[in-house]
Amino acid sequence: MAADIRSAARALLSWYVEAGVDEAILASPVNRLRPAAKPAQAPSPRPAAPPPANRAPAAPVPRPAAAVPRAPQAELDRPAEAARVAARTAGSLDELKQVLEGFEGCGLKVTATNTVFADGVAGADVMVIGEAPGADEDRQGKPFVGVSGQLLDRMLASIGLSRAESVYITNILPWRPPGNRQPTPAEIATCIPFVERHIELAAPKLLMFAGGTSAKSLMGRKEGITRLRGTWMDWPLPNSGGTIPALATYHPAYLLRTPGQKASAWKDLLALRRRLDEVVKAV
Ligand code: URA
Repeated sequence: MAADIRSAARALLSWYVEAGVDEAILASPVNRLRPAAKPAQAPSPRPAAPPPANRAPAAPVPRPAAAVPRAPQAELDRPAEAARVAARTAGSLDELKQVLEGFEGCGLKVTATNTVFADGVAGADVMVIGEAPGADEDRQGKPFVGVSGQLLDRMLASIGLSRAESVYITNILPWRPPGNRQPTPAEIATCIPFVERHIELAAPKLLMFAGGTSAKSLMGRKEGITRLRGTWMDWPLPNSGGTIPALATYHPAYLLRTPGQKASAWKDLLALRRRLDEVVKAV
């Protein structure tokens, strides 16, 4: 009997590992069978209430964690519209953080430990936009604090910049996709209005997109990062008609896996430094 239970437990754990579950992120169990967050709930500036503590954990139901649903465009647009309305209510970065923490229109929030908003100097001349929090960022509630964040810090330092003094950092997604899977188009579409408002409110002079997800989703482009990197683009401010110069480069996590591309990333960093010097001189 005990052997049966052990073998069933081993089988369940193996299934979790195969499905991409690579860590237990909470100290206490969460009932994942609770009715899911309503996709297009009206925005609320207040943080969401914590889940009831006295509910018994339900038995886990096997679900393929890495399935990427493809929704019709109208389905993609509904939570995105709620996000757009919510994001517009924020008149400052602090308000935007609160609005985001209270937003229930993105399912990623259910499995995330923290809403990862930003790090660095709000109002800095350079704003870096990555893809999504990983496990370290989810735990600490700050973007780019894991190994790829350490490389990002070294990249910035190589051109005299740092998050302590001169750079503001955020991501396209404020919540970690479970198992670090690729975010779906619907998740990106829902989060983009918050990033757009984030850029508007932070008002950087230059944008640096770290990786293809960031560059493609903010520029509405289909090309891969190899094509998009290294050429200045104009990111259109959604409400003012103005633009902000934006440069895409390789994501630090990609550079860790593919160090041969560091030479190209170095060229991008030098281009960023040159443009920053011009912009600062012109003021
Ligand atoms: N990768 C990202 O794109 N963002 C982070 O915050 C961490 C890793």
